[in-house]
Amino acid sequence: MRSREPLSSGRSGPIPHRHGGGGYVRGRVLVVFTPIIALLAATGALVLAALFLDSYRAQMFIAAATVVVVALFLSIFLLYRQVGQRQAANRALQNVEARVRDIVESAMDPVIAVDHCQRVILFNAAAEKAFLWPRAAVLGGPLDKLIPERFREGHRAHIERFGATGVTSRRMGSQIVLMALRADGVEFPIEASISQHTEDGNKLFTVILRDITERVRAESLLARNEARLRGILDSAMDAIITVDETQHIVLFNAAAEAMFGCPREEAIGAPLAWFIPERFRASHASHVRGFGETGTASRRMGTLRIVTGLRRNGEEFPIDASISQVTDRGSKFFTVILRDVTARVRAEEALSRSREEVRELGATAHQAREQEKSRIARELHDELAQSLTALQMDVAWCKERLPDAQEALAKKLERMEKLLDTTVTATRRIAADLRPLMLDDLGLLPAVEWLVDNFTQRTGVPCELAVSTSDLKLHNAHATAVFRIVQESLANIAKHARASRAEVAIEENGSEVTISVRDDGLGFSPQDPRKPNSFGLAGLRERAYLLGGEAAIISAPGRGTNIEVRLPVAPMPFSQ
Ligand SMILES: Nc1ncnc2c1ncn2[C@@H]1O[C@H](COP(=O)(O)OP(=O)(O)OP(=O)(O)O)[C@@H](O)[C@H]1O
Ligand SMILES: [Mg+2]
Repeated sequence: MRSREPLSSGRSGPIPHRHGGGGYVRGRVLVVFTPIIALLAATGALVLAALFLDSYRAQMFIAAATVVVVALFLSIFLLYRQVGQRQAANRALQNVEARVRDIVESAMDPVIAVDHCQRVILFNAAAEKAFLWPRAAVLGGPLDKLIPERFREGHRAHIERFGATGVTSRRMGSQIVLMALRADGVEFPIEASISQHTEDGNKLFTVILRDITERVRAESLLARNEARLRGILDSAMDAIITVDETQHIVLFNAAAEAMFGCPREEAIGAPLAWFIPERFRASHASHVRGFGETGTASRRMGTLRIVTGLRRNGEEFPIDASISQVTDRGSKFFTVILRDVTARVRAEEALSRSREEVRELGATAHQAREQEKSRIARELHDELAQSLTALQMDVAWCKERLPDAQEALAKKLERMEKLLDTTVTATRRIAADLRPLMLDDLGLLPAVEWLVDNFTQRTGVPCELAVSTSDLKLHNAHATAVFRIVQESLANIAKHARASRAEVAIEENGSEVTISVRDDGLGFSPQDPRKPNSFGLAGLRERAYLLGGEAAIISAPGRGTNIEVRLPVAPMPFSQ
């Protein structure tokens, strides 16, 4: 017989016994005692025969007595064996019961069994822990105690429906999260499976459940994180697209929708090639594959060129892109962050156009200034200086023809002659400073030689001139630039360097001309900000820039100065 009492040992409750049915027992008794019955029948037959037959009566009684004794021993033996088997079966049953009880008891998950009236008949240790109810408080009571009130009716109906199906077991609440109620009134989410079996015509239900508070919390945290991530992704100014290994889109943020003019629903699952102009598709796909093989976590795409994107309306536009990769459960995902740089590219183009314009404007201004200087120098030289020379000759003529007595006049003429002399010299100097006519008339080298001689004459500082070729032929603009660079550098040495010697070197190798002017003077810090009224070096740099060259100013206090300028030169046509 079975007990419905909680086990005193603190065990979970009764484990349902497997009872032998009455028919089975009867059958066994019949099988076991058939030989005895047969023997007893044989004894009866012998006794009857002895009573009715005269011959062999005594022998027949002896035989009947012997058969009775045999039957007696046999029945004692069979009874004994039957009792032994029964005890062994009981022991085995108890063992199985104990084992199942232990399993149920030591199960990590709460196990609860209820009878057909939904009264709790089994409540294991894990259930005590999960529900905070001691077993004694729950066993025999209604299951409702463990279910929040609002779910009780539905739960009861659910179990009844399950009982009616005849299905042996199934998962509960696969669509929704089930809630359970603890002794302290706190509800917690569970996952449960239910099974049923029939004992003595009554249905028993066993529920194995699992407290999924942690999982639900982790899932909601994950969902919150995902929502937050989506928020961040959607508020990003840059388009963010993630593709899988087959380069199909799995993530497409709001900025990507706006950039490519494609709603997310359409983009998800589409090949990335949708957003790349046809002519770049193959190279782009192999670029991404190649990047995947490198194992590098992230890098900028198209560092040397701007990548081109394709909007859904067919319009192409320049983008700046960086790519990163992650491996998630064995699959690679690539994320590209894209920025529409149409405005930047346009601004860069405009800037470079305007730089080119400024360069052209500067070059033209320089040229105009040089032409103007050249014109004034020539006017001074040809007109003024010639007239002054003519005047000089006239004064000399007058002086010669002056009568001796005209002392005062002679003195006047003398002063006039001197004045004219200094005026002619000044005029020639001014003209030469403006632009030595020999630059136009004789060429660059004599002009530079004149500059160097003039520098030494004026300052007393010896200056060496080294030119790589005796036949230095440059275009006008280049020749003027070289002349002006040497002129400004020597002027600086005269003004600031307090040098003991200077050196000018000009080298030309057919593709570029290098001008170097160095001194051993005071030197200075070229990194220092430009003095307010100092334009010489700035002008020098600008001249180099306008001709596509560059100027290096190498100097340090106490270490002298070296001005080095490189100018690219186009070969001179033969006609010049
Ligand atoms: N060879 C040099 N030795 C020492 N200091 C120099 C030399 N060349 C230039 N400097 C320093 O660099 C400054 C800038 O020179 P820069 O030629 O630009 O202007 P500036 O000579 O002062 O005036 P500007 O050339 O406009 O008449 C100078 O004031 C001077 O201090
Ligand atoms: Mg200067």
